[in-house]
Amino acid sequence: MRIYKVGGAVRDRLLGIPVTDIDRVVVGATTEQMLAKGFRPVGADFPVFLHPKTGEEYALARTERKSGRGYGGFTFHASPEVTLEEDLIRRDLTINAIAEDDQQNLTDPYHGQRDLEARILRHVSPAFAEDPLRVLRVARFAARYAGLGFTVAPETLELMRQLSESGELQALTAERSWKEISRALMEDQPQVFIEVLRACGALKELMPEVDALFGVPQPEAHHPEIDTGEHTLSVLEQAAKHKQPLTVRWACLLHDLGKGLTPEDEWPRHIAHEFKGLKLIKAVNERFKAPRDCQELAVLVGEYHTHGHRALELKPSTLLELLQSFDVYRRPQRFEEFISACEMDARGRKGLEERSYPQADYLRGAAKAARGVAVQPLLEKGFKGPELGEAIKRERLKALKTYKETASA
Ligand code: CTP
Repeated sequence: MRIYKVGGAVRDRLLGIPVTDIDRVVVGATTEQMLAKGFRPVGADFPVFLHPKTGEEYALARTERKSGRGYGGFTFHASPEVTLEEDLIRRDLTINAIAEDDQQNLTDPYHGQRDLEARILRHVSPAFAEDPLRVLRVARFAARYAGLGFTVAPETLELMRQLSESGELQALTAERSWKEISRALMEDQPQVFIEVLRACGALKELMPEVDALFGVPQPEAHHPEIDTGEHTLSVLEQAAKHKQPLTVRWACLLHDLGKGLTPEDEWPRHIAHEFKGLKLIKAVNERFKAPRDCQELAVLVGEYHTHGHRALELKPSTLLELLQSFDVYRRPQRFEEFISACEMDARGRKGLEERSYPQADYLRGAAKAARGVAVQPLLEKGFKGPELGEAIKRERLKALKTYKETASA
């Protein structure tokens, strides 16, 4: 039995990037031999095992044949006769198909090192098409390595286009897609993920609501970049630059979906796009079964981002409604994330990236003022039930009036 490191561990070592997890391929072994050595099988159907001590992954060399649509439609063929080259040829990218033995000798039949040097993401063989998730993976790698100068090979983009057009992406499970999307959004250049998906037609398949934003104009006075799709990419870029968490990045991607619904004769204005976009945001949320905190923030940012921008002009009563909608008293962190998303939205405009955003501190101050209202004195005055709720609201409104007066003085 021969054991090689493969995939990300070899790729990232050659790139000089820290390696996080190590995958290994085992050639010339049977399941029985692996079990006899104490390896623990992962799942029932996969020829993948965990090392008894390190817990690292060891997969038997295998070939794959496609037997149906989607990921469930795979049959695996693993046997001691499968060679290293046969295993490597069915992997996604040449840079992921380099094997390394324990003396650091490389086996690189598909020229992954050449592509690493040339900074090219290139598929290994037509077997790429066996797993449509690879369309998302390539876009994610493009986002991750954009800073190093990597681009997608034209022939790989073409294959991704064919896969997208075939409708195969529809067969991906929400869980597998979300894992790629969420990882891609957390990369340094998440906008590249969206750009690559768009370039191969996958964005139209996966998130037609986002794809529809390209070509939709906004008023130049507020949005010098004009195009709503371009604006969305810039907002995402700013969110990464400012190290925002996944919740904020997800909200940034979806905040303007309503603009894709504006009838052309109303362009470049987008009246009530915040409200119109809500059903689209919810649909995308559900399609990928995004985690609850991502879903919630995206919907709230969609509905209220314009309030954020107009914070300094809002009446105290509107400010109060905003704070109530966010339940800022119990969920202060969520309101903070809303503020961040609004700020990224403002910065995601051409030439305005560095402009200050006083709305952020103003909103923080408003939240602090409203949260500062003490409940105890109202209880002592004998308020109970719904009356207590009303009394608290009145006090908060008073606090916000004072806050607004002081802030504008
Ligand atoms: N692989 C593949 N097709 C997939 C998933 C994985 O060909 N759909 C292969 C690739 O050779 C990949 C290896 O399995 O390099 C390990 O996969 P994974 O751990 O998911 O990714 P890494 O390449 O290690 O990258 P990351 O740093 O993102 O974990």
